Amino acid sequence: MRRQTVSLCATYTLALLVALAGSMKATGLRHGFNSNSSRIFNIISFGAVGNGIEDDSQAIVSAWRAACAVPRATLLVPSDFRFLVSPLTLQGPCNSKLVLQIEGTILAALTTRNSLKSNIFQWLNFKWLNSFTIQGSGIVDGQWSQFRTLSLIHQNSTIPPAALRPTVVRFYSSYNILVHDIQIVDSPQCHLKFDSCRWIRVKNVTIFSPEVTPNTDGIHLQNTRDVEIRKSNIGCGDDCISIQTGCSNIHIKNINCNPGHGIR
Ligand SMILES: *[C@@H]1O[C@H](CO)[C@@H](O)[C@H](O)[C@H]1NC(C)=O
Ligand SMILES: *[C@@H]1O[C@H](CO)[C@@H](O)[C@H](O)[C@H]1NC(C)=O
Ligand SMILES: *[C@@H]1O[C@H](CO)[C@@H](O)[C@H](O)[C@H]1NC(C)=O
Repeated sequence: MRRQTVSLCATYTLALLVALAGSMKATGLRHGFNSNSSRIFNIISFGAVGNGIEDDSQAIVSAWRAACAVPRATLLVPSDFRFLVSPLTLQGPCNSKLVLQIEGTILAALTTRNSLKSNIFQWLNFKWLNSFTIQGSGIVDGQWSQFRTLSLIHQNSTIPPAALRPTVVRFYSSYNILVHDIQIVDSPQCHLKFDSCRWIRVKNVTIFSPEVTPNTDGIHLQNTRDVEIRKSNIGCGDDCISIQTGCSNIHIKNINCNPGHGIR
């Protein structure tokens, strides 16, 4: 999968950093920065069902908003449940040190609400975040096979096939991001993408999709700087790690890439 450079990226990034610094200072003052108590926001408390049938997107968005407003909050996706989600944008700026703890399973689900949407470029879209962590031993499942069906249905439509095959987890214009321990599997496209990001760490993640799935990059970087990716198992049908335009200071070590087209 090859994408074009986002133009004016550097200018935009700089403006956003200044804006973020301003807003963090303001919220810091408001909360006094003296609370160290970790606050847990369990998505079940916000109405998520986790039965693998109902769409839990709304509950996740509500829990995100609540957690985002509090310093050092943890948004918990509990174990032993399967949460169906439509394409979601989870955006900042949030209060400092927000953690998304994934212990259960998050499933990309085509429902009547989203199956007819014209373009689906990403499923979980994280943007405008600073100092944010995703962790836990849970799974984000892109459910590749349902998108295959969707592309067959739309094969003669004006919607380009690529627009019906989302990246599962995408970060846009975000800073100080840590992703560790989770598994991201069976993406219809790229599994984990960073676009216009800085200060990124990825470790001990497991990414897997079968060798036969086309264009399923493991980790995709574009316009992203200061990245460390290590101790991860990546297997997919395309590049395990793909480094595109506008990237620099990328450190990669101890990656087990199998199957896959390597790191490039
Ligand atoms: C957090 O606050 C509690 C009580 O307010 C205190 O006992 C604890 O040591 C603090 N922990 C850290 C890491 O500062
Ligand atoms: C798409 O067009 C081809 C050729 O006209 C046709 O054979 C096929 O059945 C069409 N597919 C769908 C899903 O409509
Ligand atoms: C790596 O992640 C898995 C969960 O996917 C966890 O069980 C394991 O303890 C982690 N390893 C380290 C060294 O943190």
